Amino acid sequence: MPKLTIDGTEIEVENGSTVLQACEQAGVEIPVFCYHPKLAVAGNCRMCLVEMEKSPKPVASCAMPAGEGMVIKTNTPLVEKARKGNLEFLLINHPLDCPICDQGGECDLQDITMAYGSGKSRFSENKRAVPDKELGPLVKTSMNRCIHCTRCIRFTTDVAGVDDLGATHRGEQMEITTYIEKSLSSELSGNIIDLCPVGALTSKPYAFTGRSWELEKTESIDVLDAVGSAIRVDTRNSEVMRVLPRLNEDVNEEWISDKTRFAYDGLKQQRLDRPYVRKNGKLHEASWEEAFAAIKEKLNKTDSTKIAALVGDLADVESVVALKDLMLSLNVPHLDCRQDGASIDTNTRANYLFNTTIAGIENADACLIIGSNPRLEAPLINARLRKRYLQGGFPVALVGPKVDLTYKYDFCGNSPMAIKEIADGTHRFAKVLSKAKNPMIIIGQSVLRRADAQALLHSIQKVVDNLNMIRDDWNGFNVLHTAAGRVGALDAGFMPQRGGKSTAEIIEGCAQGELEVLYSLGADEINTSELGKAFVIYQGHHGDACAHRADVILPGAAYTEKDATYVNTEGRVQRTRLAIFPPGEAKEDWKIIRALSEALGKNLSFDTVEDLRARMVDLNPVFGHLDTIISTKTGQFGKKGRIIESPFKPVIDNFYMTDPISRSSNTMAKCSNELWGENGKEMTA
Ligand code: SF4
Ligand code: SF4
Ligand code: FES
Repeated sequence: MPKLTIDGTEIEVENGSTVLQACEQAGVEIPVFCYHPKLAVAGNCRMCLVEMEKSPKPVASCAMPAGEGMVIKTNTPLVEKARKGNLEFLLINHPLDCPICDQGGECDLQDITMAYGSGKSRFSENKRAVPDKELGPLVKTSMNRCIHCTRCIRFTTDVAGVDDLGATHRGEQMEITTYIEKSLSSELSGNIIDLCPVGALTSKPYAFTGRSWELEKTESIDVLDAVGSAIRVDTRNSEVMRVLPRLNEDVNEEWISDKTRFAYDGLKQQRLDRPYVRKNGKLHEASWEEAFAAIKEKLNKTDSTKIAALVGDLADVESVVALKDLMLSLNVPHLDCRQDGASIDTNTRANYLFNTTIAGIENADACLIIGSNPRLEAPLINARLRKRYLQGGFPVALVGPKVDLTYKYDFCGNSPMAIKEIADGTHRFAKVLSKAKNPMIIIGQSVLRRADAQALLHSIQKVVDNLNMIRDDWNGFNVLHTAAGRVGALDAGFMPQRGGKSTAEIIEGCAQGELEVLYSLGADEINTSELGKAFVIYQGHHGDACAHRADVILPGAAYTEKDATYVNTEGRVQRTRLAIFPPGEAKEDWKIIRALSEALGKNLSFDTVEDLRARMVDLNPVFGHLDTIISTKTGQFGKKGRIIESPFKPVIDNFYMTDPISRSSNTMAKCSNELWGENGKEMTA
């Protein structure tokens, strides 16, 4: 570990650190434009110059490795002059756009110029003009403002794994461009907006709608996939203005997917803001009392064995536990949280989790993906897989539809028979896995949705056992979920009770008239045309598929409108935070269920959210451990059976429209048209 002196203070730094990192460690701020801790070093902006003893010229601290005995000075007249000169050069061609620039107030160039600039310029020549580029529906460009830091190029090339951006020409003629005009073809493209240190790349949907100092900032988590990315929700009055990532090294590092970032306009469209009751075939606005009375009337004349409840993909644990308690108080056994009919063994928690953990991927040395496209199902997990791949020594194989994962893999065909061969040790990738110390398997939902899921899991168990993939110090068995509410609902045991029916049986029961009432807590992914004459109670926040079929609608709150618990695919318990209040008469979901229980004369045992959370911990102690992974050993899974030789189906039909919020979003609709059309599909195929 080298020791060096920074401004007279001696410090010791990790091997491989740069002088810039050493300065940060010493508490000395160095202005930077091109350097970013998550990207490769470019060393091209020269803003981070410092004076180094025995060096004739100032050195770029971001690109200089820290060495033993170095003496660095960051506050000398030479450094000050270098910074002033550098900013003067940068501003020669920079437009005077601050009053109309969306970056204003959160612009590195503004801040650094204020702190280190000279305040005047010696240049009076005309500024250069650079044509703006059309990068698609998400990223707005104003290329006159570009300072050529190349962060956007390094991100798209290294992290996102697409070669969309590059630089043409040199010197003053240099331009950041897509070469031929095209939209960015990455599900992570919005991150370049955060990375751009100036206002050259800004958010198109947010353009000219707000200023950073007007916004209330609420730290929360995303629920549009099962990764649980850390986000910040920026609001003004009662409106979500934008969604930005927060740093969480264990989950999303500092990136988020485009759906997480841009689907927020869906929170304003198609909202259910009051209860409705169907009369004479038409939904009519109603009061809460009328809605509860209609439910009570129906439930009172229905046998409990003819009632069923399904919870959807965005349901939070509080409402799931409240609904489960209410249904059990009515003696209803037909409960399920697996709208897609996934065959999940809940005996041991680790049987349905991503046990390696997202950060743990970096310790793996081989990966077999079965029936999954992580690039679309969990873009941040795919980014972590790519990061590990780039470090080398990480062979990846895929059994499933052939897709572009942004890294090379051994395509083992789209036949489940390959799994059998790997289990028997006759497949070429079985040898690769057997040589790995920490191999991992990722199982997608398309495996679990199949009729032969248990037989496939039985074969996978054989692979896991043969390769000693589950040990005290390593668990390479991973289930990749796509629904934010799924793991929490499984943890809460929202599954068929003794004698209860599963989702498919519930739908069949409704179609056949065996079931007369269906309580849908945001279950929008089922085929609502198959519900026969069942009386449907829909509780949710959007007028999506199931709301159209409902007989009573109870308006709930979206994830930005409540403090609610979710469990991500790793089993990490996290909470969203209330950023704005739900619209109109809509309420937090658990409160609706609590009020309904009172109307039905089946008062639930909790009155406050604290009581409810205590009840959750009673039900499953994992709910008491926020932001931690409680690791348990995977048990036996799967059953011997016949494997059907049919290919795996893609889990996601359209990345930009996977849930009621993104389906209501105009921005996601534009992405769907422009990026997911005939050409768009090629983006990942
Ligand atoms: Fe002003 Fe920054 Fe925008 Fe340039 S990029 S116009 S300095 S706010
Ligand atoms: Fe840097 Fe922004 Fe220019 Fe890209 S567009 S090179 S991020 S200044
Ligand atoms: Fe060091 Fe740009 S930050 S050269």
